[in-house]
Amino acid sequence: MKKLSLALTTLALTFSAGSAFADSSSACDAGERIVKFSHVTGGTTHPKVVAANNFADRVNKEMNGKLCVVVYPNSTLFGDSKELEALLLGDVQLLAPSLSKFGSYSPKYGVFDLPFIFKDMDHAIRFTKTEEGKDLLMAMEDNAGFVGLGYWMSGMKYFSANKKLILPSDAEGLKFRVQTSDVAKSMISAMGASPQAMAFSEVYGALQTGVVDGQENTWSNIYTKKFYEVQDSITETNHQLLAYLFMTSKDFLDSLSTADREQFLAIADTVTQEANESVKAKEAANRANILKAGGKINTLTAEQRQTWVDTMKPVWKKFEGDIGKDVINAAAGA
Ligand code: LMR
Repeated sequence: MKKLSLALTTLALTFSAGSAFADSSSACDAGERIVKFSHVTGGTTHPKVVAANNFADRVNKEMNGKLCVVVYPNSTLFGDSKELEALLLGDVQLLAPSLSKFGSYSPKYGVFDLPFIFKDMDHAIRFTKTEEGKDLLMAMEDNAGFVGLGYWMSGMKYFSANKKLILPSDAEGLKFRVQTSDVAKSMISAMGASPQAMAFSEVYGALQTGVVDGQENTWSNIYTKKFYEVQDSITETNHQLLAYLFMTSKDFLDSLSTADREQFLAIADTVTQEANESVKAKEAANRANILKAGGKINTLTAEQRQTWVDTMKPVWKKFEGDIGKDVINAAAGA
Protein backbone atom coordinates (compact mmCIF):
# COMPACT_ATOMS: atom_id res chain seq x y z
CA MET A 1 0.00 0.00 0.00
CA LYS A 2 1.32 3.42 -0.90
CA LYS A 3 1.86 5.78 2.02
CA LEU A 4 -0.46 8.48 0.68
CA SER A 5 -3.35 6.14 0.08
CA LEU A 6 -2.99 4.75 3.58
CA ALA A 7 -3.12 8.21 5.07
CA LEU A 8 -6.28 8.97 3.09
CA THR A 9 -7.82 5.69 4.14
CA THR A 10 -7.06 6.35 7.76
CA LEU A 11 -8.46 9.85 7.55
CA ALA A 12 -11.58 8.76 5.72
CA LEU A 13 -12.24 5.99 8.19
CA THR A 14 -11.47 8.12 11.20
CA PHE A 15 -14.05 10.67 10.15
CA SER A 16 -16.65 8.19 8.97
CA ALA A 17 -18.22 7.78 12.43
CA GLY A 18 -21.79 6.72 12.01
CA SER A 19 -21.78 6.94 8.23
CA ALA A 20 -22.26 4.00 5.90
CA PHE A 21 -19.00 2.14 5.57
CA ALA A 22 -17.22 2.23 2.21
CA ASP A 23 -14.69 -0.54 1.67
CA SER A 24 -11.22 0.95 1.45
CA SER A 25 -9.20 -2.19 0.79
CA SER A 26 -8.93 -0.92 -2.82
CA ALA A 27 -6.16 1.33 -1.44
CA CYS A 28 -3.97 -1.79 -1.14
CA ASP A 29 -1.63 -2.72 -3.98
CA ALA A 30 -2.33 -5.77 -6.15
CA GLY A 31 -0.71 -8.86 -4.69
CA GLU A 32 -0.69 -7.59 -1.11
CA ARG A 33 -2.53 -9.67 1.43
CA ILE A 34 -5.23 -7.58 3.11
CA VAL A 35 -5.27 -7.73 6.91
CA LYS A 36 -8.43 -6.26 8.43
CA PHE A 37 -8.19 -4.53 11.81
CA SER A 38 -11.59 -3.78 13.34
CA HIS A 39 -12.21 -1.75 16.49
CA VAL A 40 -14.95 0.26 18.13
CA THR A 41 -13.40 3.58 19.16
CA GLY A 42 -13.36 6.82 17.20
CA GLY A 43 -12.10 10.38 16.93
CA THR A 44 -8.49 11.28 16.28
CA THR A 45 -7.14 11.62 19.82
CA HIS A 46 -8.11 8.23 21.24
CA PRO A 47 -5.17 6.00 22.29
CA LYS A 48 -6.58 2.95 20.47
CA VAL A 49 -7.24 4.90 17.27
CA VAL A 50 -3.68 6.23 17.29
CA ALA A 51 -2.10 2.84 18.10
CA ALA A 52 -4.13 0.96 15.49
CA ASN A 53 -3.26 3.52 12.80
CA ASN A 54 0.37 3.47 13.87
CA PHE A 55 0.45 -0.34 13.57
CA ALA A 56 -1.10 -0.15 10.09
CA ASP A 57 1.38 2.55 9.00
CA ARG A 58 4.35 0.53 10.22
CA VAL A 59 3.28 -2.75 8.63
CA ASN A 60 2.30 -1.07 5.38
CA LYS A 61 5.66 0.65 5.12
CA GLU A 62 7.96 -2.06 6.49
CA MET A 63 6.13 -5.02 4.94
CA ASN A 64 5.13 -3.18 1.76
CA GLY A 65 4.21 -5.54 -1.04
CA LYS A 66 3.36 -8.36 1.38
CA LEU A 67 0.74 -7.25 3.90
CA CYS A 68 -1.71 -4.37 3.78
CA VAL A 69 -3.41 -3.56 7.08
CA VAL A 70 -6.72 -1.73 6.70
CA VAL A 71 -8.17 -0.23 9.89
CA TYR A 72 -11.95 -0.10 10.39
CA PRO A 73 -12.64 2.10 13.45
CA ASN A 74 -15.89 3.09 15.15
CA SER A 75 -17.64 -0.31 14.86
CA THR A 76 -17.86 0.28 11.08
CA LEU A 77 -16.94 -3.32 10.28
CA PHE A 78 -17.94 -5.21 13.43
CA GLY A 79 -19.43 -3.91 16.68
CA ASP A 80 -18.08 -5.34 19.91
CA SER A 81 -20.79 -7.98 20.16
CA LYS A 82 -19.68 -9.56 16.86
CA GLU A 83 -15.95 -8.95 16.50
CA LEU A 84 -14.66 -12.00 18.43
CA GLU A 85 -16.93 -14.28 16.43
CA ALA A 86 -15.66 -12.62 13.24
CA LEU A 87 -12.07 -13.32 14.28
CA LEU A 88 -12.97 -16.97 14.86
CA LEU A 89 -14.49 -17.10 11.38
CA GLY A 90 -11.49 -15.40 9.76
CA ASP A 91 -13.58 -12.40 8.62
CA VAL A 92 -11.14 -10.09 10.41
CA GLN A 93 -7.52 -10.64 11.45
CA LEU A 94 -6.80 -8.00 14.11
CA LEU A 95 -8.79 -6.66 17.05
CA ALA A 96 -8.14 -4.71 20.24
CA PRO A 97 -11.16 -5.37 22.47
CA SER A 98 -11.36 -4.30 26.07
CA LEU A 99 -10.18 -7.00 28.49
CA SER A 100 -13.67 -6.81 30.03
CA LYS A 101 -15.16 -8.55 27.01
CA PHE A 102 -13.52 -11.99 27.34
CA GLY A 103 -15.54 -13.39 30.26
CA SER A 104 -17.11 -16.15 28.17
CA TYR A 105 -13.67 -17.29 26.93
CA SER A 106 -11.68 -17.04 30.17
CA PRO A 107 -12.95 -15.76 33.53
CA LYS A 108 -9.37 -15.02 34.57
CA TYR A 109 -9.49 -11.74 32.61
CA GLY A 110 -11.86 -10.55 35.36
CA VAL A 111 -8.74 -9.59 37.32
CA PHE A 112 -8.39 -6.48 35.13
CA ASP A 113 -11.92 -5.40 36.13
CA LEU A 114 -11.58 -5.74 39.89
CA PRO A 115 -12.40 -2.32 41.33
CA PHE A 116 -9.44 -0.38 42.74
CA ILE A 117 -6.97 -3.24 42.16
CA PHE A 118 -4.66 -1.00 40.10
CA LYS A 119 -3.58 2.36 41.49
CA ASP A 120 -2.83 3.64 38.01
CA MET A 121 -1.79 2.48 34.53
CA ASP A 122 1.86 2.06 35.54
CA HIS A 123 0.71 -0.45 38.16
CA ALA A 124 -1.31 -2.34 35.53
CA ILE A 125 1.66 -2.35 33.12
CA ARG A 126 3.84 -3.85 35.87
CA PHE A 127 1.28 -6.64 36.30
CA THR A 128 1.26 -7.41 32.57
CA LYS A 129 5.00 -8.09 32.83
CA THR A 130 4.65 -10.66 35.64
CA GLU A 131 4.42 -14.41 34.84
CA GLU A 132 0.68 -14.33 35.61
CA GLY A 133 0.15 -11.31 33.36
CA LYS A 134 2.12 -12.83 30.50
CA ASP A 135 0.21 -16.14 30.80
CA LEU A 136 -3.05 -14.27 30.34
CA LEU A 137 -1.92 -13.04 26.91
CA MET A 138 -2.34 -16.60 25.69
CA ALA A 139 -5.23 -17.72 27.93
CA MET A 140 -7.57 -18.15 24.93
CA GLU A 141 -5.18 -19.88 22.54
CA ASP A 142 -6.24 -23.45 23.30
CA ASN A 143 -9.99 -22.96 23.54
CA ALA A 144 -10.55 -20.30 20.87
CA GLY A 145 -7.34 -19.95 18.87
CA PHE A 146 -6.96 -16.30 19.95
CA VAL A 147 -3.41 -14.97 20.32
CA GLY A 148 -2.58 -11.90 22.39
CA LEU A 149 -0.01 -9.65 20.70
CA GLY A 150 0.23 -7.14 23.54
CA TYR A 151 -1.69 -5.23 26.18
CA TRP A 152 -2.66 -1.69 25.20
CA MET A 153 -3.54 0.53 28.15
CA SER A 154 -6.46 2.89 27.62
CA GLY A 155 -6.95 4.69 30.93
CA MET A 156 -8.52 4.54 34.36
CA LYS A 157 -12.32 4.68 34.46
CA TYR A 158 -14.69 7.29 35.87
CA PHE A 159 -18.43 7.23 36.47
CA SER A 160 -20.75 9.66 34.78
CA ALA A 161 -24.49 9.98 35.37
CA ASN A 162 -27.50 12.18 34.79
CA LYS A 163 -27.02 13.47 38.36
CA LYS A 164 -23.96 14.45 40.34
CA LEU A 165 -22.26 11.44 41.98
CA ILE A 166 -20.08 12.09 45.00
CA LEU A 167 -20.74 9.02 47.14
CA PRO A 168 -21.76 5.52 45.98
CA SER A 169 -25.12 6.09 47.69
CA ASP A 170 -25.80 8.85 45.09
CA ALA A 171 -25.92 6.06 42.50
CA GLU A 172 -28.59 4.03 44.30
CA GLY A 173 -31.47 3.08 42.04
CA LEU A 174 -29.76 4.33 38.86
CA LYS A 175 -29.13 2.20 35.75
CA PHE A 176 -25.55 2.02 34.48
CA ARG A 177 -24.34 0.76 31.14
CA VAL A 178 -21.50 -1.75 31.56
CA GLN A 179 -19.44 -3.91 29.23
CA THR A 180 -20.14 -7.66 29.14
CA SER A 181 -18.26 -8.30 32.37
CA ASP A 182 -19.69 -10.14 35.37
CA VAL A 183 -17.24 -8.28 37.61
CA ALA A 184 -18.51 -4.92 36.37
CA LYS A 185 -22.12 -6.04 36.84
CA SER A 186 -21.39 -7.11 40.39
CA MET A 187 -19.63 -3.81 41.11
CA ILE A 188 -22.67 -1.81 39.98
CA SER A 189 -24.98 -3.98 42.08
CA ALA A 190 -22.72 -3.36 45.12
CA MET A 191 -23.50 0.37 44.66
CA GLY A 192 -27.24 -0.38 44.88
CA ALA A 193 -27.59 0.42 41.16
CA SER A 194 -28.60 -1.77 38.18
CA PRO A 195 -26.09 -2.85 35.52
CA GLN A 196 -27.09 -3.06 31.88
CA ALA A 197 -24.63 -4.66 29.45
CA MET A 198 -24.64 -2.89 26.10
CA ALA A 199 -22.45 -2.51 23.00
CA PHE A 200 -20.21 0.56 23.01
CA SER A 201 -21.78 1.97 19.85
CA GLU A 202 -25.17 2.17 21.60
CA VAL A 203 -24.09 4.03 24.72
CA TYR A 204 -24.55 7.65 23.58
CA GLY A 205 -28.11 7.00 22.40
CA ALA A 206 -28.97 5.06 25.56
CA LEU A 207 -27.72 7.93 27.76
CA GLN A 208 -29.52 10.50 25.63
CA THR A 209 -32.88 8.74 25.71
CA GLY A 210 -32.64 7.71 29.36
CA VAL A 211 -32.48 3.95 28.67
CA VAL A 212 -29.61 4.12 31.17
CA ASP A 213 -28.73 6.89 33.63
CA GLY A 214 -24.97 6.55 33.66
CA GLN A 215 -21.86 4.77 32.45
CA GLU A 216 -18.20 4.28 33.35
CA ASN A 217 -15.31 4.98 31.00
CA THR A 218 -11.98 6.69 30.33
CA TRP A 219 -11.49 10.39 29.51
CA SER A 220 -10.69 9.41 25.92
CA ASN A 221 -13.92 7.46 25.43
CA ILE A 222 -16.03 10.07 27.24
CA TYR A 223 -14.54 12.84 25.06
CA THR A 224 -14.44 11.14 21.66
CA LYS A 225 -17.96 9.70 22.05
CA LYS A 226 -19.27 12.96 23.57
CA PHE A 227 -20.87 11.23 26.58
CA TYR A 228 -20.33 14.46 28.57
CA GLU A 229 -23.01 16.10 26.37
CA VAL A 230 -25.72 13.81 27.71
CA GLN A 231 -24.62 13.47 31.36
CA ASP A 232 -24.79 15.87 34.30
CA SER A 233 -21.14 15.35 35.17
CA ILE A 234 -18.27 12.89 35.46
CA THR A 235 -16.80 11.90 38.83
CA GLU A 236 -13.09 11.26 39.13
CA THR A 237 -13.45 7.88 40.86
CA ASN A 238 -10.49 6.22 39.15
CA HIS A 239 -12.15 2.95 40.14
CA GLN A 240 -11.12 0.56 37.39
CA LEU A 241 -8.73 0.04 34.53
CA LEU A 242 -9.66 0.00 30.85
CA ALA A 243 -7.09 -1.83 28.74
CA TYR A 244 -7.17 -3.79 25.50
CA LEU A 245 -5.86 -7.05 24.23
CA PHE A 246 -4.27 -6.33 20.86
CA MET A 247 -4.95 -9.71 19.31
CA THR A 248 -5.07 -11.94 16.28
CA SER A 249 -5.89 -15.56 15.56
CA LYS A 250 -3.54 -18.51 15.61
CA ASP A 251 -4.76 -19.37 12.09
CA PHE A 252 -3.64 -16.00 10.76
CA LEU A 253 -0.23 -16.10 12.46
CA ASP A 254 0.37 -19.68 11.30
CA SER A 255 -0.43 -18.67 7.74
CA LEU A 256 2.53 -16.26 7.62
CA SER A 257 6.02 -17.39 6.65
CA THR A 258 8.46 -17.56 9.56
CA ALA A 259 10.26 -14.40 8.46
CA ASP A 260 7.01 -12.45 7.93
CA ARG A 261 5.64 -13.64 11.27
CA GLU A 262 8.77 -12.47 13.07
CA GLN A 263 8.65 -9.08 11.41
CA PHE A 264 4.92 -8.73 12.13
CA LEU A 265 5.40 -9.66 15.81
CA ALA A 266 8.35 -7.29 16.17
CA ILE A 267 6.26 -4.40 14.81
CA ALA A 268 3.45 -5.37 17.21
CA ASP A 269 5.90 -5.18 20.14
CA THR A 270 7.25 -1.78 19.13
CA VAL A 271 3.79 -0.31 18.59
CA THR A 272 2.58 -1.72 21.93
CA GLN A 273 5.47 -0.11 23.76
CA GLU A 274 4.93 3.24 22.04
CA ALA A 275 1.18 3.11 22.75
CA ASN A 276 1.73 2.51 26.45
CA GLU A 277 4.36 5.22 26.69
CA SER A 278 2.04 7.86 25.26
CA VAL A 279 -1.31 6.84 26.77
CA LYS A 280 -1.11 8.99 29.92
CA ALA A 281 -0.57 12.15 27.90
CA LYS A 282 -3.51 11.28 25.62
CA GLU A 283 -5.79 10.71 28.61
CA ALA A 284 -4.74 14.02 30.19
CA ALA A 285 -5.35 15.84 26.90
CA ASN A 286 -8.83 14.33 26.55
CA ARG A 287 -9.68 15.26 30.17
CA ALA A 288 -8.78 18.83 29.27
CA ASN A 289 -10.79 18.52 26.02
CA ILE A 290 -13.91 17.55 28.01
CA LEU A 291 -13.60 20.64 30.19
CA LYS A 292 -12.96 22.84 27.15
CA ALA A 293 -16.09 21.42 25.49
CA GLY A 294 -18.21 22.30 28.54
CA GLY A 295 -18.25 18.93 30.35
CA LYS A 296 -18.24 18.97 34.16
CA ILE A 297 -15.84 16.93 36.30
CA ASN A 298 -16.33 16.28 40.03
CA THR A 299 -13.23 15.56 42.10
CA LEU A 300 -13.38 13.58 45.35
CA THR A 301 -11.74 14.07 48.74
CA ALA A 302 -9.73 11.12 50.08
CA GLU A 303 -12.59 10.28 52.47
CA GLN A 304 -15.22 10.38 49.73
CA ARG A 305 -13.10 8.15 47.51
CA GLN A 306 -12.60 5.69 50.37
CA THR A 307 -16.38 5.10 50.52
CA TRP A 308 -16.25 3.89 46.88
CA VAL A 309 -13.34 1.59 47.73
CA ASP A 310 -15.17 0.13 50.76
CA THR A 311 -18.44 -0.31 48.87
CA MET A 312 -16.80 -2.25 46.05
CA LYS A 313 -14.29 -4.33 47.98
CA PRO A 314 -16.67 -7.35 48.49
CA VAL A 315 -16.58 -7.87 44.69
CA TRP A 316 -13.01 -9.23 44.95
CA LYS A 317 -14.07 -12.15 47.19
CA LYS A 318 -16.92 -13.06 44.88
CA PHE A 319 -14.61 -13.63 41.90
CA GLU A 320 -11.61 -15.08 43.74
CA GLY A 321 -12.54 -18.64 42.69
CA ASP A 322 -12.98 -17.77 38.99
CA ILE A 323 -9.91 -15.58 38.66
CA GLY A 324 -7.57 -17.41 41.05
CA LYS A 325 -6.02 -16.04 44.22
CA ASP A 326 -2.53 -16.26 42.69
CA VAL A 327 -3.54 -13.99 39.79
CA ILE A 328 -5.27 -11.50 42.10
CA ASN A 329 -2.26 -11.37 44.42
CA ALA A 330 0.12 -10.91 41.49
CA ALA A 331 -1.98 -8.02 40.19
CA ALA A 332 -2.52 -6.33 43.55
CA GLY A 333 1.15 -6.64 44.48
CA ALA A 334 2.71 -5.72 41.11
C1 LMR B 1 -16.42 0.14 26.16
O1 LMR B 1 -17.15 -0.71 25.64
O2 LMR B 1 -16.80 0.98 26.96
C2 LMR B 1 -14.96 0.15 25.76
O3 LMR B 1 -14.47 -1.15 25.80
C3 LMR B 1 -14.78 0.67 24.38
C4 LMR B 1 -13.33 0.65 24.00
O4 LMR B 1 -12.96 -0.21 23.21
O5 LMR B 1 -12.60 1.50 24.53
